[in-house]
Amino acid sequence: MLYEIVFFFCLVGLRNLGNTCFMNSILQCLSNTPELRDYCLRNIHRSDLNSTCQTNVALMEEFAKLTQSLWTSVNNEAISPSDFRNQIQRYAPKFMGCNQQDAQEFLRSLLDGLHNEVNRVTVRPKVSAEDFDHLSDDEKGRRMWNMYLEREDSKVVDLFVGQLKSSLTCTACGFRSTVFEPFWDLSVPIAKSSGEVTLKDCMKLFTKEDVLDGDERPTCNRCKAKRKCTKRFSIQKFPQILVLHLKRFSDSNNRASKLSTYVNFPLKELDLRDFASESSERAVYNLYAVSNHTGNALGGHYTAYCRNPALGEWYSYNDSRVSPMSSSQVRSNNAYVLFYELATPSNSKYQTCRL
Ligand SMILES: *[C@@H]1O[C@H](CO)[C@@H](O)[C@H](O)[C@H]1NC(C)=O
Ligand SMILES: *[C@@H]1O[C@H](CO)[C@@H](O)[C@H](O)[C@H]1NC(C)=O
Ligand SMILES: *[C@@H]1O[C@H](CO)[C@@H](O)[C@H](O)[C@H]1NC(C)=O
Repeated sequence: MLYEIVFFFCLVGLRNLGNTCFMNSILQCLSNTPELRDYCLRNIHRSDLNSTCQTNVALMEEFAKLTQSLWTSVNNEAISPSDFRNQIQRYAPKFMGCNQQDAQEFLRSLLDGLHNEVNRVTVRPKVSAEDFDHLSDDEKGRRMWNMYLEREDSKVVDLFVGQLKSSLTCTACGFRSTVFEPFWDLSVPIAKSSGEVTLKDCMKLFTKEDVLDGDERPTCNRCKAKRKCTKRFSIQKFPQILVLHLKRFSDSNNRASKLSTYVNFPLKELDLRDFASESSERAVYNLYAVSNHTGNALGGHYTAYCRNPALGEWYSYNDSRVSPMSSSQVRSNNAYVLFYELATPSNSKYQTCRL
């Protein structure tokens, strides 16, 4: 295959087009996601782009072109992402202009846009109002996931989407109900501490039991009345690529303030089994990219550091500059979006047979 011959090491920077470091940082993290990179390099996206059903499919094409340029460039000169930017701006006008944007919001919009263009589902079935409440939690989770795939099914979903379970328990009658929702990334609160915290502390906070009271009281299906309930999250299905967004900004719209707590996260073997709905699921991840935000809530600068999939070494991407770095520098109090990959090929219980 041609791409294996013209295969370089992606140590190519991206030009800053005026406050586009948020975009460059995320693009470098994505281009170092091996399965997504290969999807673009092998032009597999082309067969997924169904021109008969989609009228505007230029975002995926530009994303793939950019990824190809990054991985097949023969010199180390920085590339301009302007063609790509024109497309993402058409898709999400919010990213118009030169304002400093939030890298995590940008990532969500981008993945959503790419997914919509390469969705294998061309005609979404109507949502059926089936009642799964008589089923076991796992069976219900599985059916909800399959229903999701009937509407949203793409390479992007294969890689990035997991499923979250939330359990609500009524404090009056003890009735427990469960809700399953797909997630594209997890926004993890930062545990309060004067010193450093661990990523597990933050995950514990994310999955800790919450009390819904006052105006937040949900309706209990057994009491048929609004009741004080407890709510708890757990991960039902782990994605191949787990994106963890550390909630450093108290409000992502106002960006009122930024927490610069040092979050200690493992580069290898992040084991999330404690947060799984079912303890048997394998959930060990290795880190391969980080989007770093330096500065404060009002302004700052994004860089990325990525472990090169071919070389296994870490590199820092600061717009057009790419430089080697030591893995000991990867953790800092500015790490903002973490990209983890499942350590073993996913043998998920949900794996479907697709021809
Ligand atoms: C697009 O989808 C239609 C209907 O599902 C199919 O018949 C056609 O072959 C597809 N076109 C491409 C280019 O894959
Ligand atoms: C991440 O941010 C920290 C704090 O400003 C900085 O010292 C470090 O160099 C940055 N890392 C990279 C790889 O850009
Ligand atoms: C990124 O590069 C700029 C110069 O373009 C420099 O001022 C800044 O310190 C660099 N930041 C990091 C984190 O390396």
